[in-house]
Amino acid sequence: MLKAAVNWKPWHLPVNLHNPRSGNLHQYMEQEPKRYLVTSALPYANGPKHLGHLAGAYLPADIYVRYLRAKKKDVVYICGSDEHGAAITIQAMKENTSPKAIVDKYHALLKSNMADLGISFDIYHRTSSPIHHQTAQEFFKKLNDAGQLEKKESEQFYDESAKTFLADRYITGTCPVCGNPSAYGDQCEKCGTSLSPEQLINPKSTLSGNPPIKKATTHWYLPLDKHEGFLRKWILEDHINDWRPTVTGQCKSWLDQGLQPRAVTRDLEWGVKLPEGTEGGEGKVLYVWFDAPIGYISATRQWAADNNKPWQPYWEDKGTKLVHFIGKDNIVFHCIIFPVMLKLHGNILPDNVPGNEFMNLEGEKMSTSRGWSIELDEYIADFVHKDNGGDMMVDALRYYLTSIAPETKDSEFTWKGFQEALNSELVAIFGNFINRSFVLMHKLCQGKVPPLHPGIMDDKDKQFLDEISATKTKLEDGLEHYRFREGLTTVMDLARKGNKYMQEKEPWIVARQIGENGQPTPEAQAKIDNCLHICLQLCANLAIYINPFLPFTAKKMLHMMKVVDKMLEWENAGKHKLLSVGYSLRAPELLFRKMEDAEVTEQVKKLKMKAEKIAEGKEKESVAAQGPSVAVKPEIVFDDFAKIDLKTGIIKAAEKVEKADKLLKLTVDLGFETRTIVSGIAMHFKPEDIVGRQVVVVANLAPRKMRGIESNGMILMAEDPEGKLHFVSPAEAIAAGSGVS
Ligand code: MF3
Ligand code: ZN
Repeated sequence: MLKAAVNWKPWHLPVNLHNPRSGNLHQYMEQEPKRYLVTSALPYANGPKHLGHLAGAYLPADIYVRYLRAKKKDVVYICGSDEHGAAITIQAMKENTSPKAIVDKYHALLKSNMADLGISFDIYHRTSSPIHHQTAQEFFKKLNDAGQLEKKESEQFYDESAKTFLADRYITGTCPVCGNPSAYGDQCEKCGTSLSPEQLINPKSTLSGNPPIKKATTHWYLPLDKHEGFLRKWILEDHINDWRPTVTGQCKSWLDQGLQPRAVTRDLEWGVKLPEGTEGGEGKVLYVWFDAPIGYISATRQWAADNNKPWQPYWEDKGTKLVHFIGKDNIVFHCIIFPVMLKLHGNILPDNVPGNEFMNLEGEKMSTSRGWSIELDEYIADFVHKDNGGDMMVDALRYYLTSIAPETKDSEFTWKGFQEALNSELVAIFGNFINRSFVLMHKLCQGKVPPLHPGIMDDKDKQFLDEISATKTKLEDGLEHYRFREGLTTVMDLARKGNKYMQEKEPWIVARQIGENGQPTPEAQAKIDNCLHICLQLCANLAIYINPFLPFTAKKMLHMMKVVDKMLEWENAGKHKLLSVGYSLRAPELLFRKMEDAEVTEQVKKLKMKAEKIAEGKEKESVAAQGPSVAVKPEIVFDDFAKIDLKTGIIKAAEKVEKADKLLKLTVDLGFETRTIVSGIAMHFKPEDIVGRQVVVVANLAPRKMRGIESNGMILMAEDPEGKLHFVSPAEAIAAGSGVS
């Protein structure tokens, strides 16, 4: 264990937590909060999550929480898996297993991914747990007993062959907005529009493929319309200044459209059953969006039980500051529906709901289902669990994602951008400053923290020390107002100024003023001491400042400085005497590594291949889904067939088409002429393997341009059940240009 051998005396400064910019009035939290409850949206345990999720709901919350912990605040950070709803049962159908098996598998995956990425939940719970079912049932019962829910009969979509009512997610059809043929009954994933099944063109049940019918059923509704007045005041007046405009803007448009009563129960098997004794509640479960946010409460209960603490104050005492971190697709649930539930149930309301916009990827929307994503476990396998990776690549990712956080508008992840951020910011600015300070201290100050000689301090030294202190207030302002991107820039700016300061002071040049003993003269040494003393105090401060963002880096810096964790407490931030004079420090360690061009190319290629593979799979699925009735196309007469001119040919040359992974450009000898034909077989054959092959060509097909190359004809191929392609050709070699009929 390292010993605390430094003289950073925690002299207590008055804590000024709220530092609102002028005009930012905290209506509900004017007082210093007694405690904080921070949540990240509970991810569906239906599959791996991607970097967009991380950037939207987990990383910013983790930064905020680490900051509060450094301030020694009473803070609990809650999350867990959302294990109900159609997202889970649909995945179970896809993987041909049970919903339980699905949630067990993905809960474990998500939990370990989040831990690997340094997301420091106090509890990562799950909504399939008994305590959650109990909490959600009690919640429903209290509202229902108090007459706050309405029960009514309505017509719902029903699948007659599967004999079941259909959740919105189980209905697919064409999106009325963008024409996407596989939009869901609740949302089109292509254009992002939220839908109701009624809006879909040609709706179909995903269970049977048949069009659903409507059938009467009874459900419980949350009468949101009755709470519109409360919501308007709470969001559009009380919080209009301290919530993000993107969040209040979305709320306003929901409110302006007029709120409707919302069903909070479903006719499903998988989910939280209605409380026993609920009249007419048999065979029904709570709607997933009713039970999931209650998961925050049940997780708090579990955390409290595990830690021997009461849970009620976190949800009932007005001194709690509740903050929900979410992505923008969750705004309506966290700002409208859940607050109404909380209010009716007698709980506190969130103080803020920092909703993030989306993070796109290499020019397109991130989407796991389309394969256009970087999954957390992919990143971890490729970079973290690698010899040249580890924690430093976790922090590299945390750095880049925060630097492009979609706080005010959609942003974009590119591998090139990642490389740029890592190489020219983290390595070249932050890492470089720390490394140089340590190297020079070992070279010019015997590996010890040199003394400060106040008498010879110049303006640059003084200004720079002021800069270190001023950063604290600026950073606090960013962190407390959920502007993490700006906060990170503030820290980097300080490191950048550190480099500039050192460059101006150039202690390695000063060291050339040698005295008779061959050592730097006393005056020179004093200047060197001052510079490195200040640089090392900056290193200590940078560790504190960077800690919420890059916790693994901060830890490494502590090790290099031989100081204990306690130094990272926020009250030490901005101080000038964190490292004591004469204290010997370790050699510098590598904080970050560069990302090579080859890694960038490889990742971009990997992404494209994954998306293509999935697209191919989907094509096949849709062919298969058409079933045997369309396996044979509608009848034609002989004259139709006779129009097609088939000829044998020989492939003379083949090459890949640039920027088209699937296409080969073929030169085919048809006997009477040689043709260029572009064929989509590149995933199946190497160019060099097919030269000399006999093929059958549709010789009279109208020319078509593909990737700028005119294709004159089409090669016949047979596809086996695995999707592998085979050439169709005469059994024996025959002259090129022979007719086929
Ligand atoms: N599972 C939901 C999603 O991924 C989020 C649930 S957040 C909660 O969009 F508040 F309901 F828990
Ligand atoms: Zn659409």
